[in-house]
Amino acid sequence: MKITRRNFVKTGALVGGGVITNQIVSSKIFGQDADKGELIAVSTWGGTVKSSEKAYEFLKNGKNSLDAIEAGIRVAENDPTNSSVGYGGLPDEDGIVTLDASIMDWIGNAGSVAAMEGIKNPISVAKLVMQRTKHVMLAGDGAKKFALQNGFKEENLLTENSRKAWEEWKKKNPHGVNRVDEKNHDTIGMLAIDNSFNLSGGVSTSGMAWKIHGRVGDSPIIGAALFVDNEVGGAVSTGNGEFVMRTVGSFLVVEKMREGFSPQEACEYAIKRIYKTAKQNKDIQVGYLAVNKKSEVGAFSLYDGFSYAVAKGSETKVVKSKFLA
Ligand code: GLY
Repeated sequence: MKITRRNFVKTGALVGGGVITNQIVSSKIFGQDADKGELIAVSTWGGTVKSSEKAYEFLKNGKNSLDAIEAGIRVAENDPTNSSVGYGGLPDEDGIVTLDASIMDWIGNAGSVAAMEGIKNPISVAKLVMQRTKHVMLAGDGAKKFALQNGFKEENLLTENSRKAWEEWKKKNPHGVNRVDEKNHDTIGMLAIDNSFNLSGGVSTSGMAWKIHGRVGDSPIIGAALFVDNEVGGAVSTGNGEFVMRTVGSFLVVEKMREGFSPQEACEYAIKRIYKTAKQNKDIQVGYLAVNKKSEVGAFSLYDGFSYAVAKGSETKVVKSKFLA
């Protein structure tokens, strides 16, 4: 069975009651030295397990964590069946697919793109913004122009399935402003540690389905959906970006780890901060995923249904996240 967020959630629901299960959905032996312990790649949502596997393959081959993150996220961006990331992502209320992405390395360098149209791999554009410019973020037409100048080609990102979904939504919401699909955005966030013990992270998304054209979520905002500090650890978010931006969530998670919290405790702290404002709204979801320098992993979400993939040692597994309410 192909693991998607939705069928994973169904499987998780059978276990029920907030009981945490470690469900191994695939495993792979990477070689004799697989258990060095430090190499790790993690990604938000069980459906992105192939991204974690790809990143881990890179790490095993001695590539650095930045390249591993890019390679892993590109797998999700290229997958037309992933309706929240890259090619096949659900469009905004005007039927236009706009993408946000960010990347950060162990030195503290960062790059991002926001509301970019027509380029399939925003994570690679974000990496080039980081490496080839003095800026951190490029947005809209400027981001696209930069991508085209750097060898990316323009493509139609709206698949037939996404177009049909948009047309159905449009029929039901002819004046559609703000009638977003709150649950339909399963952003990929990834963290990886390489064999030099260096940590990098990245995030990529098509954002909230049916959003107002021009809306930018948390994904390209450094400190919101992504933060890495090589002395401490890294964190990524998924879900309703507005709630993450308002609390500068990933930065908060990393700063709590700096104070001595475990990744799990830090994610729980940041989710509780959101819950103070979000408790009236059960339609939203936010999940954090964090890794510290000891390759310990933590994750927590507002509500049931969040999962993540971990590639470490000799196996890749999908884990159902703990949740608050
Ligand atoms: N977290 C993705 C978004 O809100 O766009």
